[in-house]
Amino acid sequence: MRFFDAVVALGAAGLVSAQSSVTFQDSSQTILRTDNGTYGPALEEYHYYYDQWPIGLAISSTGRFFVSYTRGTYAYTLGETVNKTAERPYPSAEVNLPVSALNTTFNGIPFGSASSDSFISVQALYITPETSTRPETLWVLDTGRPTVQNADGSYTNVYAQPGGPKLCAISLTNDTVYRTYTFPPSVHYPDSSMNDMRFDFRPNATNSTAGVAYIVDSSNEGRTGFIILDLASGNSWRRLEQDPSTLRVQNDVPSYQGHPFYQRSPGMPITHLTEGLDGIQISPDGSRIYYSALTTDYLYSIPTANLRAPPTDPSVELNAHANVSSHGQRGGNANGFEGDNLGRIYQLMPEQNAIYYYDPTDGQTKGMVRDPRIIWPDGATIGQDGYLYININQLPYQPMWNNGMDLRVHPGAVLRFRIPNNGTKITSLY
Ligand SMILES: *[C@@H]1O[C@H](CO)[C@@H](O)[C@H](O)[C@H]1NC(C)=O
Ligand SMILES: *[C@@H]1O[C@H](CO)[C@@H](O)[C@H](O)[C@H]1NC(C)=O
Ligand SMILES: *[C@@H]1O[C@H](CO)[C@@H](O)[C@H](O)[C@H]1NC(C)=O
Ligand SMILES: *[C@@H]1O[C@H](CO)[C@@H](O)[C@H](O)[C@H]1NC(C)=O
Ligand SMILES: *[C@@H]1O[C@H](CO)[C@@H](O)[C@H](O)[C@H]1NC(C)=O
Ligand SMILES: *[C@@H]1O[C@H](CO)[C@@H](O)[C@H](O)[C@H]1NC(C)=O
Ligand SMILES: *[C@@H]1O[C@H](CO)[C@@H](O)[C@H](O)[C@H]1NC(C)=O
Ligand SMILES: *[C@@H]1O[C@H](CO)[C@@H](O)[C@H](O)[C@H]1NC(C)=O
Repeated sequence: MRFFDAVVALGAAGLVSAQSSVTFQDSSQTILRTDNGTYGPALEEYHYYYDQWPIGLAISSTGRFFVSYTRGTYAYTLGETVNKTAERPYPSAEVNLPVSALNTTFNGIPFGSASSDSFISVQALYITPETSTRPETLWVLDTGRPTVQNADGSYTNVYAQPGGPKLCAISLTNDTVYRTYTFPPSVHYPDSSMNDMRFDFRPNATNSTAGVAYIVDSSNEGRTGFIILDLASGNSWRRLEQDPSTLRVQNDVPSYQGHPFYQRSPGMPITHLTEGLDGIQISPDGSRIYYSALTTDYLYSIPTANLRAPPTDPSVELNAHANVSSHGQRGGNANGFEGDNLGRIYQLMPEQNAIYYYDPTDGQTKGMVRDPRIIWPDGATIGQDGYLYININQLPYQPMWNNGMDLRVHPGAVLRFRIPNNGTKITSLY
């Protein structure tokens, strides 16, 4: 009888195709064991994006929610949510450089704007708590490299000019940029692409009266590495320059929603994702940075002391290369990272529609949450409320990767879950 029921259910074949945009849903009433694509704590739908597709995110101690968007053609690159379905430019429309001024051309070579006092293309956001010397701060990482579409439909991620790539500190007390750090061309190359950052403000642990920022350069063109910024002096230097642990895996073919993925850019032969060093997370004691490229299955780490050591020591790069640890494979490619006060290193897994975490207490990578709604998790932030928030932006369906066709379906989303075992935002480094 069961078998008969199953045949009747399959006869209603429309069900199957109606659900085909859902990754793992099974509506065939089969008697077989199936994978429902789901485990872990309950996911809530916290915010919906109906306009610009997001990239970075950060939530403040009072629940203010900030979002960044890479440009292009978008009207603004830094926003704040106004309600569950809308955002607005932040801190003002004026501080977001207009689209007409994003790029320029020298001798036929396209470059991004050199403006250091307005936002060009913001990749990552991070909020640090209030301390005795600074207000609660929204840190804004601007690549200075918009992606422009040429008359023939092809896309160019224009080169950076000094001034455009920058790290800005915005006070959440007065919503004003109170410090801007730019980088010399020996530290930020024209083909660098700053992807994410973490902070340690402790003077006695960092040899800087204001602390340091650790920034990853994911350069699609391949000159990957870390950029370390002394927040007091504004001096910066590179480390682990093109170390194998920071490089992309050549010709990587990941699977998204069960399909092998090749990059199909308009006007170009089929290629592969070329992004290097992407995910970064600092341990709660500040002693170690965990990291990986987007296209690798391996997780690495390095003592922060090797990153902070000044470039004046001739052996400094050799020592850093020698001190890289491999934590082995983790079960897939990973996008952005986050971390909690319990030391877990969360990694966003676009192939698995999941969030995994590395557990330093036993050296294993484990599943935290998996859900068919996690279609390209692209940035995570932990709030002081003990929730982990994830931007969902359907990136593999964007026109630049699909012969110019936009296959994304609104809305995009912020999903959130409460971290088990009372895990929460790291506050020990500020
Ligand atoms: C999916 O399957 C797992 C394992 O059997 C189960 O614990 C979970 O409740 C199921 N989730 C849904 C949404 O059906
Ligand atoms: C959310 O804000 C937008 C923009 O201000 C507005 O158009 C919309 O009506 C608001 N939605 C709700 C549910 O308040
Ligand atoms: C910006 O890039 C677009 C697309 O390539 C190009 O048409 C335009 O001329 C560029 N703007 C400047 C000022 O170079
Ligand atoms: C905003 O706050 C910052 C940091 O406390 C301070 O340096 C700056 O002067 C303030 N700016 C304004 C316009 O109040
Ligand atoms: C560094 O400063 C912090 C905060 O003042 C303190 O807790 C810690 O013990 C100090 N560490 C060392 C090595 O002095
Ligand atoms: C601080 O700098 C000194 C001199 O360069 C160095 O010996 C020491 O290891 C540094 N300490 C830290 C915590 O980086
Ligand atoms: C490697 O890192 C450790 C700290 O974990 C440090 O004591 C050691 O000096 C470093 N080695 C090199 C070669 O830099
Ligand atoms: C989490 O915090 C609550 C409230 O403080 C406490 O009752 C509970 O025991 C904690 N759970 C864990 C696993 O630490």
